[in-house]
Amino acid sequence: MSRAVGERVSSLLVLWLLLGSWVCPGSTELRAPPDKIAIIGAGIGGTSAAYYLRQKFGKDVKIDVYERGEVGGRLATLTVQGQEYEAGGSVIHPLNLHMKRFVKDLGLSTVQSSGGLVGVSNGEALVFEESSWLIINIIKLIWQYGFQPLRLHMWVEDIFDKFMRIYRYQSHDYAFSSVENLLHSLGGDDFLGIFNQTLLETLQKAGFSGKFLDEMVAPINRVNYGQGTDLNGFVGAVSLACTDSGLWAVEGGNKLVCSGLLQASKSNLISGSVMSIEEKTRTKQTGNPTKMYEIVYRSGSGTHSDFYDIIIVATPLNQKMSNITFLNFDPPIEEFHQYYQHIVTTLIKGKLNSTAFTSRALDKFDLHTVLITGNSDLFINSIGIVSSVKDNNDPQPSTDGTYVWKTFSQKTLTKEQILKLFLSHEYAVKQQWLAYPRYKPPEKSPPIILHDRLYYLNGIERAASAMEMSAIAAHNAALLAYHRWNGHTHMIDQEDLYEKLKTEL
Ligand SMILES: Cc1cc2nc3c(=O)[nH]c(=O)nc-3n(C[C@H](O)[C@H](O)[C@H](O)COP(=O)(O)OP(=O)(O)OC[C@H]3O[C@@H](n4cnc5c(N)ncnc54)[C@H](O)[C@@H]3O)c2cc1C
Ligand SMILES: *[C@@H]1O[C@H](CO)[C@@H](O)[C@H](O)[C@H]1NC(C)=O
Ligand SMILES: *[C@@H]1O[C@H](CO)[C@@H](O)[C@H](O)[C@H]1NC(C)=O
Ligand SMILES: *[C@@H]1O[C@H](CO)[C@@H](O)[C@H](O)[C@H]1NC(C)=O
Repeated sequence: MSRAVGERVSSLLVLWLLLGSWVCPGSTELRAPPDKIAIIGAGIGGTSAAYYLRQKFGKDVKIDVYERGEVGGRLATLTVQGQEYEAGGSVIHPLNLHMKRFVKDLGLSTVQSSGGLVGVSNGEALVFEESSWLIINIIKLIWQYGFQPLRLHMWVEDIFDKFMRIYRYQSHDYAFSSVENLLHSLGGDDFLGIFNQTLLETLQKAGFSGKFLDEMVAPINRVNYGQGTDLNGFVGAVSLACTDSGLWAVEGGNKLVCSGLLQASKSNLISGSVMSIEEKTRTKQTGNPTKMYEIVYRSGSGTHSDFYDIIIVATPLNQKMSNITFLNFDPPIEEFHQYYQHIVTTLIKGKLNSTAFTSRALDKFDLHTVLITGNSDLFINSIGIVSSVKDNNDPQPSTDGTYVWKTFSQKTLTKEQILKLFLSHEYAVKQQWLAYPRYKPPEKSPPIILHDRLYYLNGIERAASAMEMSAIAAHNAALLAYHRWNGHTHMIDQEDLYEKLKTEL
């Protein structure tokens, strides 16, 4: 054998060996894990990413979590007279399995979100009013809306059933490279269709009446997402699922999940504001030049920088919310010009003025929640009695007979507005949020993969913004980062997963 041929054979052999470890589906050989991973944002998205990254990459990788505000982000509490109340994300659905799992793993306790009677006001009258008698409610609902409430429930349940497939995919380690691919794997073209259309279009086509949409569906969306029926059908279904029973919260505050996950994942919290990210070539201890990302951040002690193999961005990318500059990327990574709604949470302890919601004289106003229709002059999205994060019982009035009420509004309430809503009040505190996206279908989700090893979680909020959605995006990004690091392309964007996993079990 001539030398040239020998060389050719051996280089083919090398190539074959290399390829084998990269593309063989059964291959278990892994590349050495990354040294350092950064996560930007310590909300539920960032902290659950830390948890899943630790699970996938093992104990040796160093995980830094950057947070410029408080751990918890949009999960936070406000204090009224020594008691804490949820000010941001507050209720969790019984089928939100990641949140459930976190609470169990972290040894936290839960509280049930108490119901209480709900009414819907147009500012002049109550267009719907729940009664404490179940049978009366059913008769009322059928009288006013026929079987539409039942049909709507079934529509939401069908979407939820399909949505639940994500847990099976993720427990088998499958990942998706875009929000659209993820949605498609759950519910096919139907899911992309409802994501692309307004809830109004979808439900009108399904034969729901304008009256039902205005009086029931829109007010529910307004409390959950600050919009009526012009949001996409997917977030609409998430919003409507909030009427299911069994909603819960974390005792002591939902934000405890975030601090718990940080600790459980043995991550390192860095209090500072990330200003820029840039890819640079570095020489590691091994001596090989490696591409890494440099993070420049500002903390109390000045401006610093550090290098990472992988970065997860776990905050909405826009100037108002994160203000991160991506330097010298080609093609450029720009913020996605996503408009987030300004929502103000106000907690008020006092006696409600029921005439603000119905002109009918009432001897007893026993509603615990008032939802608001779109055509009212009222300046709030909703108002309801809340229990403290420690309270596992129905909210109790204090000795003077007053409750703590929570309202959501687009703008900060003026003194006059509070005086209009309450006959008397002794206390009011507020928290402003850039709360959730302003939904405007048809829309496209921002990418999950911003660059080779740079991932973005919050694009999933375009489908729906909720704690569980951020946790799902975090699990997905951890799996995606892991598979891409190890070249396991067959674990990414698999088609027909539902059928495949059905036969596997
Ligand atoms: C009023 C309100 C009510 C809600 N109700 C519910 C509900 O009942 N149920 C539900 O499931 N969801 C609810 N949500 C939505 C839910 O709260 C959010 O979807 C979820 O908390 C988002 O988590 P996240 O980690 O993705 O983002 P965030 O919580 O926003 O976390 C991002 C973090 O990144 C930090 N950060 C940003 N930029 C930088 C930077 N440059 N450097 C360092 N750190 C940075 C921020 O300070 C923040 O802490 C509600 C939201 C609001 C506002
Ligand atoms: C969703 O809308 C976009 C933009 O209008 C369009 O390009 C896309 O084909 C639509 N997708 C589906 C599944 O309807
Ligand atoms: C964004 O950051 C730049 C510097 O990194 C700063 O000059 C600018 O004021 C910041 N903008 C906002 C809205 O915080
Ligand atoms: C209660 O609300 C009604 C209707 O908005 C208003 O006319 C009235 O003045 C309010 N009552 C008090 C005591 O503020």
